[in-house]
Amino acid sequence: MPGPTPNQLQSANFFTEHFEQLRTRYDRLLIANELDVLAIHAGQVKRHFMDDSEYPFRVNPHFKALCPMLDAVHSWILVRAGQKPTLVLFAAQDYWQPSPEIDHADWLSMFHVELISAPHEIERFLPYEKSRTAYLGEHIEVAQALGIIDVNPERVVNYLHYQRLFKTDYEIDCIQQANLIAIRGHEAAEAAYFNGLSEYGCWLAYLNATQQSPREAPYEHIIAHNQHAAILHYRGKTTTTLAEDKRYSMLIDAGASYRGYAADISRTYAHHDGEFAALIEAMNGLTLRLIEWIKPNRTYAALHEQAHLGVAQILKGMGWVDMDEEEMVAQQVTRAFMPHGFGHMLGLQVHDPGGNLADAGGKTINPPERFANLKTTRRIEPRHVLTIEPGLYFIDPLLEQLASGPFARHVNWRSLDAMRKYGGVRIEDNVVVGESGPTNLTRQQGFG
Ligand code: GLY
Ligand code: MN
Ligand code: MN
Repeated sequence: MPGPTPNQLQSANFFTEHFEQLRTRYDRLLIANELDVLAIHAGQVKRHFMDDSEYPFRVNPHFKALCPMLDAVHSWILVRAGQKPTLVLFAAQDYWQPSPEIDHADWLSMFHVELISAPHEIERFLPYEKSRTAYLGEHIEVAQALGIIDVNPERVVNYLHYQRLFKTDYEIDCIQQANLIAIRGHEAAEAAYFNGLSEYGCWLAYLNATQQSPREAPYEHIIAHNQHAAILHYRGKTTTTLAEDKRYSMLIDAGASYRGYAADISRTYAHHDGEFAALIEAMNGLTLRLIEWIKPNRTYAALHEQAHLGVAQILKGMGWVDMDEEEMVAQQVTRAFMPHGFGHMLGLQVHDPGGNLADAGGKTINPPERFANLKTTRRIEPRHVLTIEPGLYFIDPLLEQLASGPFARHVNWRSLDAMRKYGGVRIEDNVVVGESGPTNLTRQQGFG
C-alpha cells in the first residue's frame, strides 16, 4: 500500500512553532554572549581549480534550519535578540541564474525580507561598528572583508550544536518525510536488483523513484554488489551486469532529503537463500533489538557496546567464532567485523554534529577506552534523532589481522572464507527518542 506523499503531511504547519523555538534559542544565545547581531551566511559557490565550473552548492545548515531555501547563494539571515530576523536574499539581476522563487513560501512571513543584487550589498544591513556582530558561516574571507572579527565563535557553535540535537516537531516530520522518499528509492532498487540490473541500473532505479538528483542527496548513495559491500565507503557504481550464478548480495545505503533534512537508510539483500540470508535476518533482528534498547539517560557508548555484543552473539550463533561473547567484545574480535560506530545523530546533516557534547558550553565526553574511536558519546535524550546501523562485514585486511592475532584459533576460517564473496551486511534505520520509547521513522509505513 503506498504511504502518504510528503505534501500530504504536516511540515508546513509545524514550521511556525519550530521557527519560534529557534528564535528563543538565538535570543538566549545573543544575550548571553553580548552580541547585537549574528550574521548567518548561506554561503557561496566554489569553483574547481583553474576551471569555470563549480562544486555543487551546499547551504550552511544553520541557515536552512531557519529558511529552507537550499540554493540561497550569497544570502544571509541577520538575527537580533527580540526582533524578527532579517532575511537578506541575493537575486542576481542577470539571465544566467534563476531568480529565487519565494512568492508562496510558507516561511516568508517569519522574516523581514530585503533583496540584494550584488554580494557586497550585505554591508548595508550590518552595523557600522561590528564589535558586537558575529559571523556564522564557511567563508572567513567574507567576514574579514566585511570587518567582522568574531567568526564562528566556539561558544556560539557549541551552543547551537548542543541544542540542535533536540529536534522540534517540524524537524522530526521533515526527517520522516525524507524517509518516505528514500523508502520509495529502496523499494525500486531492490526490485531492480532482483531483475538482474547492475549497480548502476539499481542506482538509476533509486533516483527515478525518489525523483531527487544526486546533488540533492544528503550523502553519496552506496550501491554495492557482492564483495563491494565490504568497502565501507564504496562509491563506484559499476555498469557490469553479473551472470545469475555470480550474483550474491546487494548492500544499499541511500538517503533522501526533505526541506534540507536527511534520511539515511541501509538495507542488504541476499540473492538466494542460505547462510548469508540467515545473517541478514539476524542483523535485522539486532537493529530492531538495539532500537528497543534505546531509553532516555542511557549513553550512546553503552548502545555501541550492545551493538558489539549483538555482533558477538551472531558470530557465535553462526558458528564462525567460538569464544565467550563478552570476551569477544573485550578483546576487540568483534571490531574486525564491525569497524564503525553503531550509528550517529541525524538531521540537517547526515552526521549531525554535537554527538559528543556533555553540555551547551562545549564540554565533551570522551569515548570509553575500549571504543576509542567512537564519536557519539552523549547521553540519550528525548527528541534526539539517530541512526541505528550495526554492520557485520567480511573485510579482507581486517580478517588478515585477525588471522595473524592471538584469537585466530577460535575462528572457523573455512566457513568465514566462504562468506567473503557476499561483502557484508548493514541494516540502518532512523529513530526518534521519546519519553516513553523510540519511534522508528523508517518502518512506519510497513517498509521492512
Ligand atoms: N551513509 C552514511 C552513514 O551511514 O553514516
Ligand atoms: Mn548512517
Ligand atoms: Mn547510511
